[in-house]
Amino acid sequence: MSKISAAITAVGAYVPEYVLTNQILETMVDTNDEWITSRTGIKERRILKDDGKGTSYLAIKAAQDLINKKGLDPKEIELVIVATATPDMKAASTASYTASEIGATNAFSFDMDAACSSFLFGMSVAAGYIESGRYKNVLLIGADKMSSIINYKDRATCIIFGDGAGAVLFEANTENLGLQDEYLRSDGTGREFLQATYGGSSFKLTAEILEQGGQYAFQEGRTVFKNAVFNMADAAAKILERNNLTKDSVDWLAAHQANKRIIDATAQRIELEDSKVMMNIQKYGNTTSATLPLLINDYESQLKKGDNVIFAAFGGGFNWGAIYLKWAYNSK
Ligand code: UT7
Repeated sequence: MSKISAAITAVGAYVPEYVLTNQILETMVDTNDEWITSRTGIKERRILKDDGKGTSYLAIKAAQDLINKKGLDPKEIELVIVATATPDMKAASTASYTASEIGATNAFSFDMDAACSSFLFGMSVAAGYIESGRYKNVLLIGADKMSSIINYKDRATCIIFGDGAGAVLFEANTENLGLQDEYLRSDGTGREFLQATYGGSSFKLTAEILEQGGQYAFQEGRTVFKNAVFNMADAAAKILERNNLTKDSVDWLAAHQANKRIIDATAQRIELEDSKVMMNIQKYGNTTSATLPLLINDYESQLKKGDNVIFAAFGGGFNWGAIYLKWAYNSK
């Protein structure tokens, strides 16, 4: 019997309508378009303006986009994973609500949080369920309403993040397409440099903390940047080496969209030309768990069956890694 691998067989996405441009940010904090563009590559990001709608709203829309494109019966979905750092609430999971709302009534579901690496780690988890032979398909959604934890008076964070969601369907494959190899790592000593602290079980959200804006995300950008450049590039290089891939045999790099300079550094490390580097940071900024599926959704029409795609991410925790995946279909 041939080995079962886990292949991506469909993609969907959703971004909210409201566009927060660099020009608008110039009126909110002490910053300017030139600084943001040259330091990050970001021109605009999407924001879900409605306070009554959370990450599940984005996740449901992305999943419905996939379901419609694929013509999938949601009752056939066996597992729904929502990768997110901004769940609707601390309990119950965003995934359970999302699964019910999309009609995946025969599935079980759970959330996964590894900050900006949530989707990358989610790919590993989704693939593991399928490779075990116990499940035929898994719907993996990366969704974040980052605007819910961003202080729009803090120029160090508000220029970077945006809201969005993307979804992929993993299915069992017997042609050896799909996930081939992974290199994933965590280092908890990095957590002090990037976190949304208060409201967690160790850090009570008091009235005083709220007054100081302690409910928002904080990052020491320069330290995160240095670690991101080193580790994301290193993980990508390791995955190439381990699989005897050369720069010519890699067709695409899908790297977490946190900063164009970090993506460029990763591409340079594996000597990949610009035309093979997926990039949409200019449109969406850093959507945390949604960057990777938003990338493959944007590039879906250019991806060909058998293409070698390298996924890479780095984020809070610290968590990082790279995944080598063989693309499984030509889009219609
Ligand atoms: O996705 C999860 C992982 N997150 C990341 O990967 C983010 C990693 N970090 C970064 O992308 C970058 O560190 C930032 C984009 C956040 C910042 O860029 P940087 O080149 O590291 O800038 P910096 O923090 O070293 O600040 C340089 C200068 C400072 O001024 P002085 O001290 O040199 O006078 C900052 O105060 O730029 C100033 N600055 C700004 N100026 C205009 C910081 N933020 C801004 C701003 N507009 N928004």
